[in-house]
Amino acid sequence: MSCYNSNGLISKLLKALFLFAIATLYSCQSSEQLKSEQYFVEGYQLYKTYCTNCHQDDGKGMANLYPPLQGSSILKNKELMACIIKNGMSDTILVAGKKFSRPMPANPKLTELEIAEIVSFVTMKWGQDSTRTSIELVQKSLAACKDH
Ligand code: HEC
Repeated sequence: MSCYNSNGLISKLLKALFLFAIATLYSCQSSEQLKSEQYFVEGYQLYKTYCTNCHQDDGKGMANLYPPLQGSSILKNKELMACIIKNGMSDTILVAGKKFSRPMPANPKLTELEIAEIVSFVTMKWGQDSTRTSIELVQKSLAACKDH
């Protein structure tokens, strides 16, 4: 009988531990999910302030003046995107078969967090990303801009 009781206790403990592990895992995932949603929303606000004028709200750009972000291969290169946002660019580029050669202004005042939020918004909205781009990735990218 006492044997049965202690087994029961152990199995109860194991069950509690298991539920605790599941709950911890679940709350971690959902807080990460929440953070991605937060970056997306903040990123959208920043995009409207700093990018919409040229790249447009729908990310399709404008004629031969401003390249589209939607459909560009840049969506797969977040490192380079962070650098372009921070430092601007003046080059001639081919995006979706069209040539663009106007300069894009730099955004020296944007923080690493703000750049991470903008990259998150752009890549989650028009790219394949389902989660945010971290500040750490932006930090590393900005430190190595010349190499991208
Ligand atoms: C004043 C207009 C203007 C604004 C504002 C602007 N861009 Fe640009 N952007 C351009 C132009 C023009 C180019 C092409 C630059 C070139 O050809 O060298 C470009 C290029 C880019 C590229 C590279 C595109 C590719 O497919 O390689 C990215 C990414 C980009 N912009 C993102 C942004 C983001 C994000 C913002 C907001 C923080 C922003 N831009 C704000 C005009 C602008």
